Amino acid sequence: MVRRLPVEIELKHVYKVFGDQPSGRALDLAKAGVPKDDVQTMTDHVVGLNDVNFSVQQGEIFVVMGLSGSGKSTAIRTVNKLFTVTDGEVLVEGTDVQKLEGRALQEFRRQKMGMVFQHFALFPHRSVIENTAYGLEVQGMDRKNREDAAMRALASVGLDRFALSYPSELSGGMQQRVGLARALAADPDILLMDEAFSALDPLIRRQMQDDMMEIQQRLQKTILFITHDLNEALRIGDRVCVMKDGAVIQIGTPEEILTQPADAYVADFVQDVDQGRVIDVGSVMTAADPLVVEDESLEQLRPRVESVSGRYVTSRQGRVLGLLTAEDIDRASKMGSTFLRRALRRDYDRTTPDATLNENYAAAGRGLPIAVLDDDGKLVGTLEPTDVLAELGRVEDLASEIAAAAEPDGGGSPGPGGSGHEEAMV
Ligand SMILES: Nc1ncnc2c1ncn2[C@@H]1O[C@H](COP(=O)(O)OP(=O)(O)O)[C@@H](O)[C@H]1O
Ligand SMILES: [Mg+2]
Repeated sequence: MVRRLPVEIELKHVYKVFGDQPSGRALDLAKAGVPKDDVQTMTDHVVGLNDVNFSVQQGEIFVVMGLSGSGKSTAIRTVNKLFTVTDGEVLVEGTDVQKLEGRALQEFRRQKMGMVFQHFALFPHRSVIENTAYGLEVQGMDRKNREDAAMRALASVGLDRFALSYPSELSGGMQQRVGLARALAADPDILLMDEAFSALDPLIRRQMQDDMMEIQQRLQKTILFITHDLNEALRIGDRVCVMKDGAVIQIGTPEEILTQPADAYVADFVQDVDQGRVIDVGSVMTAADPLVVEDESLEQLRPRVESVSGRYVTSRQGRVLGLLTAEDIDRASKMGSTFLRRALRRDYDRTTPDATLNENYAAAGRGLPIAVLDDDGKLVGTLEPTDVLAELGRVEDLASEIAAAAEPDGGGSPGPGGSGHEEAMV
């Protein structure tokens, strides 16, 4: 196994202007902060990227998200120099890619990066394995080695059984898997994926997302993933970068994007999303405040649980013994028992700090605090049902408030690039 270099993609103050004189007045105007539309009116040049800065860490799935025309494809194409930049720097593992030319550029692309596009672009008259091995063949790798590499790549996407099939014999999802295998065949550190799943049906798309996350876990690739779909971005991204008009609006974890949308543009996306899926328990839970019991009687404990829905009882070591509620004390004392052990509930709900609120939604419906346990089974917090519901409601309200403000007439859904956003910001 080859030792991997630390991988990182970094865009630093990157501008891309399309037109006859990209470095001319249009660039100056963009740098002076003139909006994209105005630059276009004034100069007939299109500002594709406007001072874009982001860095992708090794082993990360970094998603660039935005409406059509926001500059996502332009950004990803600067990374393998399918596009030259007008200004700024693009570093891949510390190498200034934009300075590479000819053979050196080809070599660099081949070694470092695999690319997957929206359209499968498979050769119809080549078998699956030949399609997968195509890039290696172009590089002059001998048949045996390239077919071995292709088989490994096909196995990693679960298609080794179809190696000898032809694209027309495969479903759309399987064809896109071949596209992914083709990108993996040369075992690159980095995968560049531009709307790779956007043409797939929702169910197949979900499956592909799952598979890709699994592959990423197993092979530790660094993935720069482009999508116009926030649900997809939040589902697969370790971090999400939201773009608009060639500029970066916000970079954050899925949770940050949802709970603290930087502006109405982001909030517009956010309101379509199922919030509970990405907010984690750790950010909503209450710090653990267990009853550490020696030999108190149930009646002595009663005041300490009366005003709450329940409290966890732990050993001195933090191991949960059970959940105690005022109701449990009543029940036990009716039965003439003063023993704590008789009153404790042991069928309490439990979760972990990195679980999502949605995963705890059903448990929250029971109305009792949920125990939040760490990997060692120690109580680190409690999740109150009311907090789960309040948090889900809060984010929903926030999103619809901002969306309503962005749309003074209050009717219909805001269209892509809707003009109300700027007004809403003031
Ligand atoms: N080759 C090109 N010539 C002129 N304008 C372009 C070219 N490629 C992209 N653009 C413009 O640059 C902007 C960003 O495009 P793109 O990166 O393709 O957006 P996205 O991938 O987010 O849909 C758009 O306004 C688009 O029209
Ligand atoms: Mg695009």
